[in-house]
Amino acid sequence: MADFFRGRRLRRTAALRELVRENEVRAQDLIMPYFVVDTDDASFRKPIGSMPGQYQLSLQEFEKQVGAAVKNGLRSVILFGIPKTKDGVGSEGYADDGIVQKAVRLCKQRWPELVVVTDVCLCEYTDHGHCGLLRKENGEVTVENDATLTLLARTAVSHAKAGADIVAPSDMMDGRVLAIREALDEAGFDNIPVMSYAVKYASAFYGPFREAAESAPQSGDRKSYQMDPANSREALREATADVLEEADFLMVKPAGPYLDIIRMVRDEFDLPVAAYQVSGEYSMIMAAAQNGWINGDAVAMESLLGIKRAGADLIISYFTEDFLARGLVK
Ligand code: PBG
Repeated sequence: MADFFRGRRLRRTAALRELVRENEVRAQDLIMPYFVVDTDDASFRKPIGSMPGQYQLSLQEFEKQVGAAVKNGLRSVILFGIPKTKDGVGSEGYADDGIVQKAVRLCKQRWPELVVVTDVCLCEYTDHGHCGLLRKENGEVTVENDATLTLLARTAVSHAKAGADIVAPSDMMDGRVLAIREALDEAGFDNIPVMSYAVKYASAFYGPFREAAESAPQSGDRKSYQMDPANSREALREATADVLEEADFLMVKPAGPYLDIIRMVRDEFDLPVAAYQVSGEYSMIMAAAQNGWINGDAVAMESLLGIKRAGADLIISYFTEDFLARGLVK
């Protein structure tokens, strides 16, 4: 009688391993982020120093790059904008001719099938770099919650008008999913889903993104609105609130250091769960790979698999475009 477990039986050949494989990263699970710059310089294409392989792109360069990626099987993008001018109230974020609105219209014209997600937040458009409006009282500066909601809702509606398929609020103001849902419905966009950055931590892993999107807060930090990395029960409260406000997707961000949270959200709710493998996660893998310290492709794939295994249905990842180009995901 056999007396111990022979796990190796099912690992003997590649075909056997594939037969019993439980998780897989598929092209249709991945969303590629792009940074589009409002500029008159059509050939503008600036490497993001802290994110090797990623660029800030003019609308024209963006069109070329996405065109190639779509040929390689790209299905979904999430767009971030870098406006010409910033101000205290983030006007360019909800301007009908804002850079994201222009990029969305371009995408829908050129590739009607492409799923276009827009990040809804003020931090790329405010001169102070915070995700909401600032109020100064007795020398104390706070990020105003309720007054910000109106502007976020306006941003979401302007994205939907431009043709966005999904809007994704990343600001972490309380009540923003409801405010956006109501505004979308009122404007006739009751069919446009909200992908809420429901569980978003105040993470140091966003460092490289803030160079990419030129969105670092000019003073202070985001700890009064983004979550404390030490907390997990709080993630359930945030996600519950967004479910009640009728979010269509729940996102956890960052992804790699928060796999327990992804699993918890997956087990607790039945909405699609998205995970954002953020800039710092990407940059660390790229940096170590460039030094020859790790096998970058293998580590990147293993990280994506870990995120899927934890329960994410879809992943926003900077590896998407390159992995498709090289046939590493299909
Ligand atoms: C905007 C936003 C951020 C990211 C996505 N949307 C930055 C932040 O909250 O500071 C981070 C994405 C990344 O690091 O790749 N609020």
